[in-house]
Amino acid sequence: MSADGATGPSGDLCIRTLAMPADTNANGDIFGGWLLSQMDVGGGVFASKVARSRTVTVAIEAMNFRKAVYVGDLVSVYANLVRVGRTSMTVHLEAWALRRKELQPILVTDGNFTYVSIDDEGRPQTIRRDEPPIAT
Ligand SMILES: CC(C)(COP(=O)(O)OP(=O)(O)OC[C@H]1O[C@@H](n2cnc3c(N)ncnc32)[C@H](O)[C@@H]1OP(=O)(O)O)[C@@H](O)C(=O)NCCC(=O)NCCS
Repeated sequence: MSADGATGPSGDLCIRTLAMPADTNANGDIFGGWLLSQMDVGGGVFASKVARSRTVTVAIEAMNFRKAVYVGDLVSVYANLVRVGRTSMTVHLEAWALRRKELQPILVTDGNFTYVSIDDEGRPQTIRRDEPPIAT
């Protein structure tokens, strides 16, 4: 994907949802925190598939809010695996919005989210790479 999103979305589609009136800020546009939350949920689903375990978000970096999102936009989050460490992984997440009456989605936000694989007690655990991710 280019910085202006010219080449379209790539990677795993991990969440798709509709921006609703309840998600707006004081300007009437979609609240940035809502979008960040959708990205984190989608990235968490992706990370849990890769790790085959529960995961938690430990860091969010290089977050860009490129374009506004409006009520009625169809928002899709795509994930690409950037790095896998011992217990953590970094996932590049992009949110694309398809506006009503438009044919092409536009890149609205992107960032690098780091997730840690955890055990039942919430402690970091080694990510096993000898098995494929869970298929959904
Ligand atoms: C994530 C958590 C389990 C890590 O516990 P910890 O005792 O710090 O564990 P470690 O120091 O062993 O770090 C675990 C991994 O996270 C990575 N990590 C820790 N802090 C990090 C940070 N700020 N940025 C990037 N990676 C980080 C470490 O490098 C390590 O990766 P590796 O094993 O691949 O080398 C713990 O910090 C936690 O529970 N945080 C709260 C998570 C949460 O509630 N998230 C939702 C936020 S609203």
